[in-house]
Amino acid sequence: MATDSDEVEVTLFEAVGGMSFFERLVEVFYRHVQDDEILLPLYPESDLAPAKHRLTTFLAQYWGGPTTYAEERGNPALKMRHFPYAIGPVERDHWMAAMRAAVDELDPIPQARVMLMDYFTMAAEHLRNDQTMRFTGSA
Ligand code: HEM
Repeated sequence: MATDSDEVEVTLFEAVGGMSFFERLVEVFYRHVQDDEILLPLYPESDLAPAKHRLTTFLAQYWGGPTTYAEERGNPALKMRHFPYAIGPVERDHWMAAMRAAVDELDPIPQARVMLMDYFTMAAEHLRNDQTMRFTGSA
């Protein structure tokens, strides 16, 4: 039977194995971005390495890891930093699909998976700044 002394409290950052988890997650995420005709044109730099570094350090910091992002970029202010990109429901869904595929591939422990996916779902909708819907075909 579990007793209080068996309980261990760790941050999500620690629970998933630290920095290397976020490096691999972002690597896989950007592999999907690179193959996505909706997402890729949004990224302003043809070299995605700086964008990978920003997302990796941000996520590591958000989940209890080192504060490298704040030291390099200051306040995340993500809503403001996403204003230059038209993020409608379609873009949001493509971003989420790429991130879901990355989380699936990394396969973190179930508690961490739920926390990550809840956060990404909430944040991706929060960062949506456009209402444009797109329909294809005759229906
Ligand atoms: C869970 C939701 C999201 C998170 C946590 C997130 C996080 C970030 C971060 C940390 C940056 C770098 C900010 C900086 O320091 O300059 C960034 C940049 C960017 N994001 Fe997001 N983002 C999210 C959703 C989205 C969505 C839905 C889109 C569009 C489909 C998007 C497109 C971009 C683009 C184009 C950039 C610029 C690339 C760069 O130079 O870093 N993001 N995002």
